[in-house]
Amino acid sequence: VESVIVAIDGPSGTGKSSTSKAVAAKLGLSYLDTGAQYRAITWWMLTNGVDTDDPAAVASAAGKPVIVSGTDPNHPTITVDGLDAAGPIRTQEVTSQVSAVSAVPEVRTLITGLQRSIAAAAAGGIVVEGRDIGTTVLPDADLKIFLTASPEARAARRSGEVKGSDVAATREALIKRDAADSSRKTSPLAKAGDAVEVDTTELTLQQVIECVVTLVEEKR
Ligand code: C5P
Repeated sequence: VESVIVAIDGPSGTGKSSTSKAVAAKLGLSYLDTGAQYRAITWWMLTNGVDTDDPAAVASAAGKPVIVSGTDPNHPTITVDGLDAAGPIRTQEVTSQVSAVSAVPEVRTLITGLQRSIAAAAAGGIVVEGRDIGTTVLPDADLKIFLTASPEARAARRSGEVKGSDVAATREALIKRDAADSSRKTSPLAKAGDAVEVDTTELTLQQVIECVVTLVEEKR
């Protein structure tokens, strides 16, 4: 395959983003962070007075914001109605509400459509990371990876990223978010039957990147 489509799924803190960006940059592929899109729509709802705990309100507002993702792995961008959203989508407020927003079927239908059109337009191939890419968004992907790691390793990585956060609190928030993402009705976080599972608990980021690069090269 010349133009390879790679789906990378898994729970939070498994190194999906760092791995996906590095693999795409190394192989000259485009890159799409689908979590950033769900965060962006959540941020828009919070700043526009939509009650994110009310699925009906979320559903009726879902089509309003215009979300645009830049797919250069060396400089990924995300805008909402033309505003740079890269910073605001990483706040704790957005993180705590994103699972509720992303569970609403109308939101998923819209964002999934956006993701498929971005993947189809990526002429040289693309690495798409998320929770339901291999199962739902791109079931015909050339390669599907499912990254896992122990809850301890995931919490330690996440709290290393967020200044001033303690590991225990991060661990609780992370477990809660994964449970919500895994148990929702519409396209939950799940490993596709034909995905390659990589447990990253004992691996360095470099080792995970090399492992995935090798798997992609076998498909090209
Ligand atoms: O990857 P990240 O932690 O930024 O994702 C934020 C949230 O977006 C997830 O916890 C999940 O609720 C949602 N998400 C999703 N489907 C995806 C990617 C992310 O539901 N494909």
